[in-house]
Amino acid sequence: MTLLAGLDVGTSSVKGLLVSPDDGAVLARAEVPHRLSTPRPGWAEQDPEDWWAGAQAVLARLASQGEIGAIGLTGQMHGLVALDAAGRVLRPAMLWNDGRTGAECAEIEAAVGLRRLIELTGNRALTGFTAPKLRWIARHEPDVYARIDRVMLPKDYVRLRLCGEHATDVADASGTLLFDVAGRRWSDEMLAALDVDPAWLPRALESPEVSGVTPGGIPVAAGAGDQAAGALGVGVDRSGRAGPVSVVLGTSGVVFAAADAFAADPQARVHAFCHAVPGAWHSMGVMLSAAGSLRWLADAVAAPGSGGADIGVLVEEARGWGPGVEGLTFLPYLAGERTPHADPDARGAFSGLSLRHDRGALTRAVLEGVAFGLRDGLDLVAENAGPPSLGRVSGGGARSPLWTAILASVLELPLQRVAVEEGASFGAALLGGVAAGAFADVHEAVAACVRPGEIVEPVADWIEPYREARERFVALYPALRAARS
Ligand code: XUL
Repeated sequence: MTLLAGLDVGTSSVKGLLVSPDDGAVLARAEVPHRLSTPRPGWAEQDPEDWWAGAQAVLARLASQGEIGAIGLTGQMHGLVALDAAGRVLRPAMLWNDGRTGAECAEIEAAVGLRRLIELTGNRALTGFTAPKLRWIARHEPDVYARIDRVMLPKDYVRLRLCGEHATDVADASGTLLFDVAGRRWSDEMLAALDVDPAWLPRALESPEVSGVTPGGIPVAAGAGDQAAGALGVGVDRSGRAGPVSVVLGTSGVVFAAADAFAADPQARVHAFCHAVPGAWHSMGVMLSAAGSLRWLADAVAAPGSGGADIGVLVEEARGWGPGVEGLTFLPYLAGERTPHADPDARGAFSGLSLRHDRGALTRAVLEGVAFGLRDGLDLVAENAGPPSLGRVSGGGARSPLWTAILASVLELPLQRVAVEEGASFGAALLGGVAAGAFADVHEAVAACVRPGEIVEPVADWIEPYREARERFVALYPALRAARS
């Protein structure tokens, strides 16, 4: 039997799954953590060599459990890896959550024009995206810039080491701001406007295409950025009108719908990217602090040095409060926000505190505030992709029955879990299976392997209180922004 390896070059670790193409059973899992460095406030960097070391260790562990017949790659999007002509990494990779490029984003929007930028790339210039990072290097590290010979995204560095190929996929390339997302190719106009040498860029392939072969003869699929691969992993391979949307309650939060045609939001409040399914696109809202907000609360309410409050205990305490928490509202913009505000300077807030509110109330308000933020994303995605009838929910936060019930009630959408939690590496393994010929196409792979599970319905009695509480939530950001300026 040919087994499929899915490799996810994530922000905290390299994760791998070994998957049977017969029924999607996961036969082995492996994970190797790596370091994140923040040399200055707002910066986020990693050493690409750590990714490669982790990928080798993960593949070795998977190979010890069964023969790998295909590899699919996925990983954190938007990061910039720059190499010199000898193939050496020129500086630490700048990651998706690196916020140093505010000035460069403003410059790009002014140079290209916001309307044209959105038409071409489906997006506005956001600090985490790849192109502003190149501009930042040009300005602040001209010696490095002068030596650039190739640039690539994080998982594509692992590909280069794995099979010697300089290639990427259309879904990940969509997050660079250098890609013609409608045409599924690099944008000559963007490259010219930003003075980027086309020779630096990898070949852009469709996700299930073979990008190369390892020295041991294993085909490596082009793969996809983590959100597109994750959507495949939970069975979101067809347009939002015909199939479920994906809702991710991870450190960041995502609402993702597939679409049959490219359609950018006119103000780019949600991202329009290529999907990992040839001929399909997707619309995606990203909130930066979803489960990350709960992690923050657990750390903030605990004694210093205690390692943080137990999240299970906090959520149990939240159960004691009703929907709307007696007027307490939490804004989850702890690290700025992408959807719907595209505002790196937005900040979090509790509003409506009273003497009665305790730690459980704060926790419930955090769970609800994150759900309201995801509802903002869902409404915008639905404007482009049509109203969904089902969400597939994944990510660490989705393990909590209370949080999933709150989310279903706020989204007013049934949420279904799937058998395999590691959506991105699972989706990557399926792409590997298509590349190796185990499946005719992505749809066949999803139908054979994704196992839908329990459905969490909205709680009927919570819908009205949440509509009211959401009005408070929606009014809070503009009020605080006005107070800021
Ligand atoms: C997607 C995004 C994150 C990163 C890190 O736009 O920024 O999902 O890919 O996981």
